[in-house]
Amino acid sequence: MKENLEQLRAMALDALNHAHSSAELESLRVKFLGKKGEITAILRQMGSLSETERPIIGQLANEVRAVIEEAIADKVRQLEANNLSERLISEALDVTIPGKEFLIGRRHPMTIVLDEAKDIFIGMGFNIAEGPEVELSLYDFDKLNIPTTHPAREWTDTFYIEADESVHLRCQTSPVQVRVMENQKPPIRVISPGRVYRKDEVDASHSPMFHQIEGLVIDKGVTMADLKGTLNLLVHKLYGDKTKTRFRPHHFPFTEPSCEVDVQCVVCGGSGCRTCKQSGWLELLGAGVVHPKVLAGCGIDPEVYSGFAFGIGLERMTMLRYGIDDMRLLFENDLRFLSQF
Ligand code: PHE
Repeated sequence: MKENLEQLRAMALDALNHAHSSAELESLRVKFLGKKGEITAILRQMGSLSETERPIIGQLANEVRAVIEEAIADKVRQLEANNLSERLISEALDVTIPGKEFLIGRRHPMTIVLDEAKDIFIGMGFNIAEGPEVELSLYDFDKLNIPTTHPAREWTDTFYIEADESVHLRCQTSPVQVRVMENQKPPIRVISPGRVYRKDEVDASHSPMFHQIEGLVIDKGVTMADLKGTLNLLVHKLYGDKTKTRFRPHHFPFTEPSCEVDVQCVVCGGSGCRTCKQSGWLELLGAGVVHPKVLAGCGIDPEVYSGFAFGIGLERMTMLRYGIDDMRLLFENDLRFLSQF
């Protein structure tokens, strides 16, 4: 029995030496030290031993058990250390590898210019109003005094949504004027930026979707002079104090009198070039004094109140701001272009 135990110790130590995983260690522990293991099997036979042999063999068995336990504990520590160093190697960071490049977004040039315009108008006491892009023809045409024969009402010009022509993609931001006047009492001071849609072919200055900023001021005693002062201030803040403006007579059904406002050409400074077609001026917006019929149709008494309105092309405003000569650049999303702003 003594030999058996010594043999067992040698076998166990040898097997433990060759173990490579904690699973292997566990099965060796069960095999040698477990309840149904080898040592237990030997101890079961102790009954057949003499009184003098029994304590000697008992002591030896305990020693062998302690040696095996100790060897297992050693091996556990060794495996843990190996695992750690393997992980340290496999998870090592090479801090010299160049990092990932993070592209930081930026505002689109039209957003920059719109934000500037908003700041300027908010500084003059304006609020910002919003209106739907899918609009009732009632608001975009009828209530704006646009006659049924007006070319803007043609299917070739406007994107209709309903066959009976009652709903379409708004072709201007002016219907927001009506919505505001129907819902607010004067004094009114709002701007309303947003998308508008017209059946235009794409070229250097046209797109079927573009942006306008509508403006509306209604109060007692508002005149064309207030319109000029407001728009001149906008132009001077956007394009510099020395930039000249030109108010040219025009016609809009919803304003009377009406005008178009030109800005001195930003490319040539007014002397005449290709961008301004040798005229020295670039058109920026349409405007006028709100027509009494429009006021009355929105429940505002034209004998008491008057006001002015304007509609600025945001693309045009942006192109003038940065000297961009082709509107398509604003829509193409070419990073080489966009990253210049
Ligand atoms: N809605 C007009 C257009 O799209 C611009 C405009 C707005 C004119 C307000 C006068 C008053 O051309």
